[in-house]
Amino acid sequence: MKITVITGSPHKKGTSALLADKFIEGAEEAGHEIFRFDAAFEDLHPCKACEHCHFKGDGCIYKDSMEKLNPHLINDDMIVFVTPLYYFGMTAQIKMVIDRFYAHNSEIMANKKDCILLATSADGNDWTMQALVDHYKTVVEKYMGWEDKGIILATYCTVRSDIENSNYPTEAYELGKSI
Ligand SMILES: Cc1cc2nc3c(=O)[nH]c(=O)nc-3n(C[C@H](O)[C@H](O)[C@H](O)COP(=O)(O)O)c2cc1C
Repeated sequence: MKITVITGSPHKKGTSALLADKFIEGAEEAGHEIFRFDAAFEDLHPCKACEHCHFKGDGCIYKDSMEKLNPHLINDDMIVFVTPLYYFGMTAQIKMVIDRFYAHNSEIMANKKDCILLATSADGNDWTMQALVDHYKTVVEKYMGWEDKGIILATYCTVRSDIENSNYPTEAYELGKSI
C-alpha cells in the first residue's frame, strides 16, 4: 500500500513527530511504501480563493511544494494526518494543505482512500479533541468519502518527555504495523 503521512507541527522532534516516526516504522516493517510530507518545513501558500484552478483548469497559481504532494494525494491508498492540537483544531500548517486540495479536489476525491488521524495535546478533558475529531471525520468521511482506519489521541502530552513516557508511541507503531 502507498501511504502519505502529512505532519503539521513546527517541532521537528516534538510529540506528534514521534507518533509519525513510530507509525512509519510499523508501516514500513509491514511492507508499505511511505511518502512523508512535513508541511511546516515545506514551501506552501494558503489558498487565496482566486478560483484560477477552476476557471483556467491548469491547477493552482502557486507552484510550490503542493506540486510534489498532489500526485500522492491523488494516487496513494492512505493519507495519515499528524497534528498537535492548536486551539482545539489542527495546526494552520496542515489546514493549509487541506485547503489546497481545492485545486485538484475531484481527482483527489475520485480515488477512494483510507485515512488515519494521529494527534497530540497538552490537555486531556473528555472534550479536548472533540472539535478536531469532528472536523477530521467531516472532511474525510462525510465529504471525501474516504474510510477512517484509526485515530490516536495522545492527550496530556505537552512536551516530548510526556509522550516518550506514555504508551502512545507503541500504539502508533502497532497501528502502522497492523495496516
Ligand atoms: C499555538 C498553540 C496552541 C495550542 N492549543 C492547544 C489546545 O487547544 N489544547 C491543548 O490541549 N493543547 C494545545 N497546545 C499544546 C500542544 O498541542 C502540545 O504541546 C503538543 O504536544 C505540541 O505538539 P508538537 O510537539 O508535535 O508540536 C497548543 C500549543 C500551541 C503552540
